[in-house]
Amino acid sequence: MAVMEQAFAPEFGEAWNRRQVSDALLMPNTRYGLITSEGQPNVRTLDTVAGFFLSRSILDEEELLLFAISPAFRRRGLGHALLARFIDSARSTGMKRLFLEMRDGNPAGILYSSHGFRAVGRRPNYYRTPAGITLDAISHALDL
Ligand SMILES: CC(C)(COP(=O)(O)OP(=O)(O)OC[C@H]1O[C@@H](n2cnc3c(N)ncnc32)[C@H](O)[C@@H]1OP(=O)(O)O)[C@@H](O)C(=O)NCCC(=O)NCCS
Repeated sequence: MAVMEQAFAPEFGEAWNRRQVSDALLMPNTRYGLITSEGQPNVRTLDTVAGFFLSRSILDEEELLLFAISPAFRRRGLGHALLARFIDSARSTGMKRLFLEMRDGNPAGILYSSHGFRAVGRRPNYYRTPAGITLDAISHALDL
C-alpha cells in the first residue's frame, strides 16, 4: 500500500484502497508479485518493496490489474524486470493471452509495447478522474 500511495498520481484516481486490494487477494484466481529496490523478487522487510503487480486470471487468460514502481526507484529498469517476471510466470502457468487497460497517454505504454503488448481497442471515457474529467482506456493484449 505504501508503493500504491506514492506511485499513482492522485489526479487520475487510479490507486486502489486497502479494502479493494484485500478483497481482490481473497479471490482464488488473483495473484501479486513484488520487486525490491535491488530488483529481487524475495522481500525480507516491507520497507524494501519498490514495486508490485496484481493480476487476475480466467481460464488461460490473465489480466494485469495494477502495476507500479515507487517514484524513488523509477527509470532504472525495475519496471522492465517486474513486467518480464509477470509475463514469464504467466507463460509458465499455462496462460495463453495477457490483457491490460491503460489510461490513454500513460508513458507506461512504452514499457508495455517493448514487451510485446499491442493496443487492441479503445474504451471511450472509461476512466473518470476525481475532478470529473473522463479519459479513454487503451486495451492491450499479448499472445504468449
Ligand atoms: C510505468 C512504471 C511502472 C515504469 O516503471 P520504471 O521502473 O520507471 O520502468 P523502467 O525503468 O523499467 O523503464 C521502462 C521503460 O518505460 C518507458 N518509460 C517509463 N516511464 C516513462 C516516462 N515517464 N516517460 C517516458 N517513458 C517512460 C521507457 O521506455 C523506459 O525505458 P528506458 O528508461 O530505458 O527509456 C512507473 O512509471 C509507474 O509506476 N507509473 C505509475 C503507475 C502506472 O501508471 N502504472 C501503469 C498503470 S497501467
